[in-house]
Amino acid sequence: MTQRTLVLLKPDAVRRGLVGEIVGRIERKADWTITALELRTLDREILERHYAEHIGRPFYEPLVAFMSSGPVVALVVEGERVIEGVRALAGPTDPIAAPPGSIRGDFGTIVRENLIHASDSEESAERELKIFFPGLA
Ligand code: RTP
Ligand code: MG
Repeated sequence: MTQRTLVLLKPDAVRRGLVGEIVGRIERKADWTITALELRTLDREILERHYAEHIGRPFYEPLVAFMSSGPVVALVVEGERVIEGVRALAGPTDPIAAPPGSIRGDFGTIVRENLIHASDSEESAERELKIFFPGLA
């Protein structure tokens, strides 16, 4: 089943020079294609839309501060079961619980600075792609 997902390499990944490493892991999966890729600094407005489900939670304000603390790399990735697949490459939200071999498990320590966002369902992917790449067909 061909799908499309939104991936964000978070400001920690960009600051630490891990863009190539993480993009490389996505590129090396068979039959997935990167169809958009952009370095971009996110403002509060776009983050409020993107993380709307978390507004009001205790981690929301620090999350927005972190996500706007430097540029992110926003990508669109297309391919076979790519929504589930990029989530699997990323690993669970908490990098200490994330298995070695996953992006968060290999490179992360604290929950907030967990390197990568990837859409968690077809509905989320559709919603998030509209926010970040409104011009996409
Ligand atoms: P994401 O949305 O960024 O792909 O991550 P996720 O689905 O694995 O996790 P989610 O529950 O949606 O949380 C969004 C992001 O908020 C930060 N977070 N901090 N307790 C905390 O300090 C906490 N909980 C979540 C993380 O950056 C997480 O990825
Ligand atoms: Mg999430």
